[in-house]
Amino acid sequence: MRPSGSCGLPTASHALLMLLPLLVPLLGAPRGVSAGAGAPAELRVRVRLPNGQVTEESLQADSDNDSISLELHTPDGTLVSFIADFKKYVKIFRALILGELEKGQSQFQALCFVTRLHHNEIIPSEAMAKLRQKNPRAVRQAEEVRGLEHLHLDIAVNFSQGGLLSPHLHNVCAEAVDTIYTRQQDVKFWLEQGVDSSIFKTLHKDTEQALLPRCGQVKDRGMPCVCHYGLSLAWYPCMLKYCHSRDRLAPYKCGIRSCQKSYSFNFYMPQRQLCPWDEDP
Ligand SMILES: *[C@@H]1O[C@H](CO)[C@@H](O)[C@H](O)[C@H]1NC(C)=O
Ligand SMILES: *[C@@H]1O[C@H](CO)[C@@H](O)[C@H](O)[C@H]1NC(C)=O
Repeated sequence: MRPSGSCGLPTASHALLMLLPLLVPLLGAPRGVSAGAGAPAELRVRVRLPNGQVTEESLQADSDNDSISLELHTPDGTLVSFIADFKKYVKIFRALILGELEKGQSQFQALCFVTRLHHNEIIPSEAMAKLRQKNPRAVRQAEEVRGLEHLHLDIAVNFSQGGLLSPHLHNVCAEAVDTIYTRQQDVKFWLEQGVDSSIFKTLHKDTEQALLPRCGQVKDRGMPCVCHYGLSLAWYPCMLKYCHSRDRLAPYKCGIRSCQKSYSFNFYMPQRQLCPWDEDP
């Protein structure tokens, strides 16, 4: 390879290496040890939730597996986890919701929502692995609030075969074996990618589900109903920023843009009592 001269033409690897040093003024200094191959890189940040409260969020990038995971605790004790599996075009949301024992609810309840991962929803895992922060006490607020997304989930994912969809499913959704949901339009995409159709089971035809009442309006604890659950990813790197420099011909990656996004899930519950958080407004 030609040694770079005073004109400093950037090579591809040069451009990638610049991401870390140039993120330093933005997010902070490297911790000294960079994540080696196989070891997921972790970033812990303090973030402001949509309701204004502050919580700690953990972001991990696994460049070998080409995946990113995010985890945060909400003030009500719920643990929200999110995995972006770039290899399989899959994103997984999991909520571990604490029950109210005095109301006869179980200790916790797990829900898993699996949907298609599109390009450009979140930065690549290899860029995520390079993010560092100088001031871990700083409370971060997303630069961009992305619109609330409503998802209507009408398909169940078979847990024992879920590994065929994404290898992460077995770890993430182990507590939610009977409550792993996805959508018809996402299934259609994965089938085109060669995923086996036996993983999926249609729960209720759209029209039938539309006829089912919302759980919040159902009194009978044993009745089937449409359950609702909402969650937010408080802060995540959603885009790479590019900078221009007189020394370089092309724009280069020099930072990230952070986003916040909320999701609203509607899905079938066979019994009203399995959706205790849904209350009639
Ligand atoms: C999930 O798949 C396994 C293996 O094919 C099958 O034995 C099992 O009955 C399926 N579970 C459900 C709930 O359909
Ligand atoms: C990739 O992900 C799978 C499933 O989560 C995990 O078992 C495996 O250890 C990961 N591989 C690496 C290199 O981290």
